[in-house]
Amino acid sequence: MASLKEQLTVIVADTFASCGYDRKYGTVQTSDRPDLSQFQCNGALAAARQYSTNPRQIAQAVVDKLSALDLFQGVTIAGAGFINLTLRDEYLVQHIRTLAADERHNCTPVAQPRKVIVDYGGANIAKPMHVGHMRAAIIGESLKRLTRFLGHAVLGDVHLGDWGLPMGMVISELKLRHPDWPYFDPNHQGPYPAASPVTIADLEELYPAASQRTREDPAALEAARQATFALQNGQPGYFALWRHFMDVSLVELKRDYADLNVEFDLWLGESDTRDRIMPLIERLQREGYAHESQGALIVDVTQPEDAKEMPPLLLIKTDGAVLYGTTDLATIEQRVQELSAELILYVVDKRQSNHFQQVFRAAHKTGVAPATIGLEHIAFGTMNGKDGKPFKTRTGGVMRLRSLIDMVIEKAQERLTEVEAAKNYDAAEKAEIAHLVGMATLKYADLMNHRAIDYVFDLDRFSAFEGRTGPYLLYTMARSKSILRKASELGYLFGPINAPADEGARALLLKLAELPDVLDLAFAERAPNHLCEYAYTLATTFNRFYHDHHILSEPDQVQQASWLALAKATVSELELVLNLLGIQTPERM
Ligand code: ARG
Repeated sequence: MASLKEQLTVIVADTFASCGYDRKYGTVQTSDRPDLSQFQCNGALAAARQYSTNPRQIAQAVVDKLSALDLFQGVTIAGAGFINLTLRDEYLVQHIRTLAADERHNCTPVAQPRKVIVDYGGANIAKPMHVGHMRAAIIGESLKRLTRFLGHAVLGDVHLGDWGLPMGMVISELKLRHPDWPYFDPNHQGPYPAASPVTIADLEELYPAASQRTREDPAALEAARQATFALQNGQPGYFALWRHFMDVSLVELKRDYADLNVEFDLWLGESDTRDRIMPLIERLQREGYAHESQGALIVDVTQPEDAKEMPPLLLIKTDGAVLYGTTDLATIEQRVQELSAELILYVVDKRQSNHFQQVFRAAHKTGVAPATIGLEHIAFGTMNGKDGKPFKTRTGGVMRLRSLIDMVIEKAQERLTEVEAAKNYDAAEKAEIAHLVGMATLKYADLMNHRAIDYVFDLDRFSAFEGRTGPYLLYTMARSKSILRKASELGYLFGPINAPADEGARALLLKLAELPDVLDLAFAERAPNHLCEYAYTLATTFNRFYHDHHILSEPDQVQQASWLALAKATVSELELVLNLLGIQTPERM
């Protein structure tokens, strides 16, 4: 089932063709001036240039034929040759009836599903998650859900940072502190202890300490590099220790991601490429793609059209260790070979755009990714504090994800004391609602602007129950659901949907019909902010409608049944869109 706009485009394109013009001029869009018409087609202006005639003349020919169709309540020409279209209510209602009866709301699954991998975690082992990782998780989860809903075969991968220098830093820090541990004894025979010698609290202290030491002391940095190299080359003691870091960190990371309602299909990481790195590098050397330069091994990725200098991709450093780019290249090989990936979306901070450009070029150049495979960096900006600088704690430190989550939930709790009904709920339900409201606050704020934009996180504004906020949407949902619940309890009838009796009802029908176009746009631009905008405008359109129509007390049963069906369709669309945003809604609040 095509969307309303698509159906109208077919009709208008047919009409352009029957008037002797190219079909492509028949594209219909939602009107810029809803006060004048519901839809518009601007094609006559462009057509006039191609056919060297007057745009109004073309528009007139098309309008004459469209008027004869009995489909429109109004077809007029405005200005230089814009065609304004307003549907007859009967046609609109027919469309909304099929939409309301369809569990996919007329969103047809794609004809050619692709195998898509969304790489959107990027959490690092032995380091707590920070706000940047949260943005990746929130935006990526939404893109994954959207892509999957559209019918593609999608896998979300966390792609842990677990094989680089930070691992060597923590290992050599431990070696300094506990030289007597069996992990550091080259003569150690037999198994290593099964239980981890470090806890998550230890790791949280160890990494910053190691990081500071390597900054201050070149010898410590050198030791960390050697440890990284040794780990990557399978030194048993280091590898055993690293396994402990993994196990201990994963418990914590899984909890954070679960709180965010983010679910990965794959918990792979940089280290999962360890067996394919050497064979890959050997092939690249053999085939002349990789060569030595100043003691390092590199792949040249410049292209003739480059305006600015493009540094090579580094595969092996002078110290012998492999890098971020090496594991990313090997990961592409793994995803292509083992997962048959056709499109890989990397939801990562925009400051890494050079890195991805190098990796993607190298992958295509070396055949790691055949030319048909899409590699895209879905870049996002920074979440700033009110001072315009990256969001910090009150004392100026890096804001941990966990602290941020606690902060928004606390704020939600405070806000909920303003909500009348919630006062009677038991403590467990209150806590559950506060969690969902907090998450909605965070996620909606993060998703509502185009991802590439830096935004200021203003907790007071984003946690309000009014305006473009997550809590406003949850509140609208909860209230609408309670209306539906009451109507069911009272045995009221739902549907059929009738012709709209006023502008408010008509606006709601038109809004409901936009969903398929919005999802297509959000996917085409890899931009969930379109879903946010749609959810908000659908909610306000419904709230206005609800304010003007007293659904539950309406005496005319036929009218009431129609309104209830509309309310139900709205709730179900909103629920879908919020779900695609990764936002969960409470049944009541
Ligand atoms: N671990 C990286 C970081 O914290 C992000 C990883 C993103 N994904 C990737 N395939 N490189 O910056």
